[in-house]
Order: sequence, then C-alpha cells, then structure tokens
Amino acid sequence: MEIAFLLNGETRRVRLESPLTSVLDWLRAEGLTGTKEGCNEGDCGACTVIVTDDAGPRAVNACLMMLPQLAGKALRTVEGIAGPQGQLHPVQQAMVDHHGSQCGFCTPGFIASLAAAHTNRRSDYDDLLAGNLCRCTGYAPILRAAEAAAEAPVPDWMQSDLAFDFAQISSGGERAAGPEGGRQPPFLPQTTDALAEWYLAHPAATLIAGGTDVALWVTKQLRDLPEVAFLSHCDELAQIRETAQAYEIGAGVTIARLRAWAEGPHPALADLLRRFASEQVRHVATIGGNIANGSPIGDGPPALIAMGSRLTLRRGATRRTIALEDFFLDYRKQDRAPGEFVESVTLPKTAPDLACYKLSKRFDQDISSVCGCFNITLKGSIIETARIAFGGMAGVPKRAVALEAALLGQPFTEATFAAALPALGRDFTPLSDMRASAAYRMNAAQAMALRYIRARTGEVVSVLEVLA
Ligand SMILES: Cc1cc2nc3c(=O)[nH]c(=O)nc-3n(C[C@H](O)[C@H](O)[C@H](O)COP(=O)(O)OP(=O)(O)OC[C@H]3O[C@@H](n4cnc5c(N)ncnc54)[C@H](O)[C@@H]3O)c2cc1C
Ligand code: FES
Ligand code: FES
Repeated sequence: MEIAFLLNGETRRVRLESPLTSVLDWLRAEGLTGTKEGCNEGDCGACTVIVTDDAGPRAVNACLMMLPQLAGKALRTVEGIAGPQGQLHPVQQAMVDHHGSQCGFCTPGFIASLAAAHTNRRSDYDDLLAGNLCRCTGYAPILRAAEAAAEAPVPDWMQSDLAFDFAQISSGGERAAGPEGGRQPPFLPQTTDALAEWYLAHPAATLIAGGTDVALWVTKQLRDLPEVAFLSHCDELAQIRETAQAYEIGAGVTIARLRAWAEGPHPALADLLRRFASEQVRHVATIGGNIANGSPIGDGPPALIAMGSRLTLRRGATRRTIALEDFFLDYRKQDRAPGEFVESVTLPKTAPDLACYKLSKRFDQDISSVCGCFNITLKGSIIETARIAFGGMAGVPKRAVALEAALLGQPFTEATFAAALPALGRDFTPLSDMRASAAYRMNAAQAMALRYIRARTGEVVSVLEVLA
C-alpha cells in the first residue's frame, strides 16, 4: 500500500512495508532522528510531533501512531519546526534564551508541543505539557520560554500546513492494491457503510481507531495483527449529532474533541476528561476505542454509564442499541459479535447531578486506580433516581446496584449515605494490584460516595483539585 502525506511541508509518498510501522520508527529510519524514542508507550512525550488536517494542528505521540493514520495529513517534526533557512521558531529561540534545555533528550518533544500550542494560540501550559517529561532541566525555564514566545507571530512555514488543501494529497484510496509479504493490505474506510461491509467479510480483523491501546500490543507485546482496518479516515464515525432527546457521539470522536464539546452540556464529563491521559493521547484516542477496549479501568465508561448512555453496535446493515453497562460482560469480554463494531454512544441532553472522581497516583497522565461516577436526582429531599458506576472495582466498569438500591427513596443526607456504604461490599470484590490494594479501593470508593453528598450539600470538591 502506498500512502501520501506532507512531511515538513513537502509531499511524501511511502510504500508501506507494514501498516503497523509506527511513525516514530519510520521517521528515525528516514534519518529524522530529532524525534526521540523514550518510553515508546505514550508516557514521556519525547516523540511528540505535529499532525495537521482539516481539524487543525495538534501534538501527538509518534510512537503511538501508525503510518496509515497519516494518510492525507501534514506531519511536522522538530526538523521542520525551524524555518527552511534554519531560522529558529519563536519557541526554539525562547528555549535557548531561557535555558530550557540541559541534556536535550526531551527538548524536541517540548518544542513540538509548544509549537503546536503557539500556532493554536493556547497558553494552558500545565495541561498541554502534561504529556512531556523532563528529567533534568526542570519545568520553570521551559514555562518561562513558553510564555516569552507566546506573543510572537506564527512563522509562515508553520502556517503553510494550515493553508494546505488536504484533498490534494492522495490517501491511497479505501483499499490499497495487492497483499504485501503475505499480509493483507490495511483497509482505510471513508464511510461507515464501507466499514460495515468490509468488517462483516473480515470479522477476524483488528479495528484501529486512535491506536493508543492497539499500538502497545504491537510495540510492547510484539503481537502480529495480520489484518487491520484504520478508522481514522471515516468522518461519519467522528460526528456529534443532536437529536430531540439526546446527543449521539460517534465512536471515532476523539477524547480531546469530546472534552471540548462536553464543556457546554456535560461539564462534569469534561472535567473528568481533563484527567484522561495527556494532550497528545487525547488528540488521537477515541471514545469508541475506550469503550470497545473493555478495560476495567477506562475512564469513559463509568461516567457514561452513570449518565444512562446507550451504545449502538452495527453489524453489516443491522444495528442494535443496548444500555452501555450491558456491553461489559466479564473481564475483557464484551457483548460484541464477530464483524460488529461500535458505531456511537448516546448521551442524555443534560445530567446536572453528575459528578466524577478519578483517583490515580498522579494528577495527569495516569490510569485510574478507582474512578467513581455518581448521578443522583431528588424529589424534594428524597432520592428519586440513582445511577452510580465505578471503574477499577471489578473486572469490568460496573454499576453499584446494591448501593443504588440502599439509597433510593431515602432522605438525601450524609447519614443515609453512611448507612448505605456497606452495600458497596455486595457490589464489588475489588482486586489488589500494582495500582492499589483491594482494601484501599473499597475505602476510596466509599470515600467518593461521601464526597458526592458533601459536594452536593455545599462543600467545594472537584475532580480537578489537588490537595497537599
Ligand atoms: C500513555 C497512555 C495513557 C492513557 N491514559 C488513559 C486514561 O487516563 N484513561 C483511559 O481511560 N484510558 C487511557 N489510556 C488508554 C487509551 O488511550 C484509551 O482506552 C483510548 O480511548 C483508546 O481509544 P483508541 O481510539 O486509541 O483505541 P484503539 O487503540 O484504536 O482500539 C482499542 C480497542 O478498541 C477496538 N475498537 C476501536 N474502535 C472500535 C469501534 N468503533 N468498534 C469496535 N471496536 C473498536 C480496537 O480493535 C481495540 O480492541 C491511555 C493510553 C496511553 C497509551
Ligand atoms: S517515546 Fe515516550 S511518548 Fe513516545
Ligand atoms: S533536558 Fe534532559 S530530560 Fe529534559
């Protein structure tokens, strides 16, 4: 298969040896070694590059992205962030002026994140740099450099990626010609109908949406995936639609886009997604992948279950819609037939009583030890409905039905919650693992329930707060 994309302003056509080659490996093999490999699993940001398409420029991890995901897009590496005559980009000059680099290993990644932010005129550096680790300089000089460069004009060469007509870059079509080395060529559907038809005929294939989970199967577990389809070019899957009663979120909507959208109708969900991975991961990771992956510690499902979301699955021309909690059958076992894919998840218009609490060892860029999401409505002072869901407490994201039952019809008081808490022991038998012990998880889940009632009765608590 051949794909085409812009690389540092110039069209490149690449014949793929393997669709599973990471952008990072390819760049370094091409001699563009400014982009560094640190962790090779999305944690350190040393491999950060800028990808631009119709949705604008964004920082992504080259180690988590596979080459077909680049088709028809513009890629800019640290080598292309400096100007064609070697002029430094304002963030590069500021890093020099403010001594933002010592050993320099992290520096290309910081430069890519800062240059993307500079083009987008963003200055929320704590958030946008949370996926870039520096082990020796310390962050103060880097932040000083970011602030110093903020007002400088965006250089012409950075603007050229924005002005580019992406339709002009051939994507290689929906299906590339000819098997390569015994491997099926990857499929890059442009429509959900095409995806549905192809997946029905290739039910053993692996779907790759953002690839932030799947990339690690390849790079860390060295798994071979003989047949794959990349969903990144299926625009229909990436739509958010409003109906009379609900919002329908396409499976291909990225976490970054969902977060920005949710600021309006679902601020508690938006706050939770601020704690999801890092800027670079959120730009490619999708909500469909987060659900379909079926991880017991994924952050999306507990919040969406507490909201009463429904999942639409499609197999060929047949669609079915189920309550999201019913999708998760057992550890890594979901209610999904061969050839069936997640098409969308439907959220209510509002959920004003939703609150989400994520407990992880680090504030940023860390998987939950426990994630608790509460959505309780009242009639007067009596609890009328309760939807409570946890991640990290069982082999699947799961509703706390015994706790819900213990709360229903009771006065909305801390005494009610305190009396109901033992019910969590009937809902969950958590595991001990490297993130948390079983006892700690149970304590944390109970504390989250108390936190919810205290927050609703006047105490200020937020998923974004950090207490010493
Ligand atoms: C550094 C790092 C930090 C992370 N932090 C977090 C975090 O804080 N919280 C969190 O919840 N997760 C986190 N993750 C996990 C991951 O980013 C999420 O699960 C993400 O939402 C997966 O989406 P994706 O599009 O990348 O999925 P992919 O990797 O493309 O796919 C994941 C699985 O879903 C399947 N799939 C994808 N789309 C569909 C579809 N439409 N229909 C059917 N199957 C489909 C794939 O075949 C695969 O089995 C992190 C990952 C990394 C690498
Ligand atoms: S190499 Fe560490 S995030 Fe990619
Ligand atoms: S300058 Fe050495 S790791 Fe950042």
